[in-house]
Amino acid sequence: MPELKMAQAPAAKPAAAPVLAVQDLQAWYGESHILHGINFNVNAGEVVTLLGRNGAGKTTTLKSVMGIIGKRSGSIRFENQEIIRASSDRIARMGIAFCPEERGIFSSLDVRENLLLPPTVRAGGLSLDQIFDLFPNLKERLTSQGTKLSGGEQQMLAIARILRTGARFLMLDEPTEGLAPVIIQQIGHTIARLKSEGFTILLVEQNFRFASTVADRYYIVEHGKVIDGFANSELSANMDKLHTYLGV
Ligand SMILES: Nc1ncnc2c1ncn2[C@@H]1O[C@H](COP(=O)(O)OP(=O)(O)OP(=O)(O)O)[C@@H](O)[C@H]1O
Ligand SMILES: [Mg+2]
Repeated sequence: MPELKMAQAPAAKPAAAPVLAVQDLQAWYGESHILHGINFNVNAGEVVTLLGRNGAGKTTTLKSVMGIIGKRSGSIRFENQEIIRASSDRIARMGIAFCPEERGIFSSLDVRENLLLPPTVRAGGLSLDQIFDLFPNLKERLTSQGTKLSGGEQQMLAIARILRTGARFLMLDEPTEGLAPVIIQQIGHTIARLKSEGFTILLVEQNFRFASTVADRYYIVEHGKVIDGFANSELSANMDKLHTYLGV
């Protein structure tokens, strides 16, 4: 009888390394020790949301990744490169962009001038036409001054501005803060569209109802640490815990 040959099991495909891997991140403002060991990952194409109460350290985490916190330690790996000691300029050129909570729209500049402000740091940035396709109302407001824009228009402009730079990893700090429900919905559509176009997004939100419409996964930040994490599919099972964590 001929010897039976067993089919070889295909080799397990190694899991792709996360785009961003943060381990034991600590950060200080002057003498104030704010982050005490932040751990989380973001995989390519994901929307990951950091949730947590006021003052938990969410913004400080984003600023640490962007390299704009003076003193930080631990490890931040972006596309397999250690960036914990990299300058913010180098981090931007690697393709990370940060849209701050305060939006940073210059009131004395018009929409076009605000849009053209950040330098294009790498290939692949959106053209103005592509930006207007995403945000048609910005095209209509092109010559309006920053001060004349509504909160929603300012937020759209702040997101649009970082899309020009060529970054594919976007960090958005509370993009829905202070906005009307209909505008929040538009921001949600924008985030979903960016995800579908292959952007990877790290979002900070207080509004987890909004976050649940866009996020793949969540991490909970408390007192400068990540204390929990779960997938969006596990959200309902984690609702009680979430209410406790967020105090809502
Ligand atoms: N420039 C600063 N100098 C000193 N302390 C700061 C500074 N910015 C923030 N902090 C402190 O660091 C801690 C974390 O602040 P952070 O802004 O990261 O919180 P957050 O989670 O983003 O909160 P929020 O939801 O209110 O935006 C807070 O105790 C805050 O008071
Ligand atoms: Mg904040």
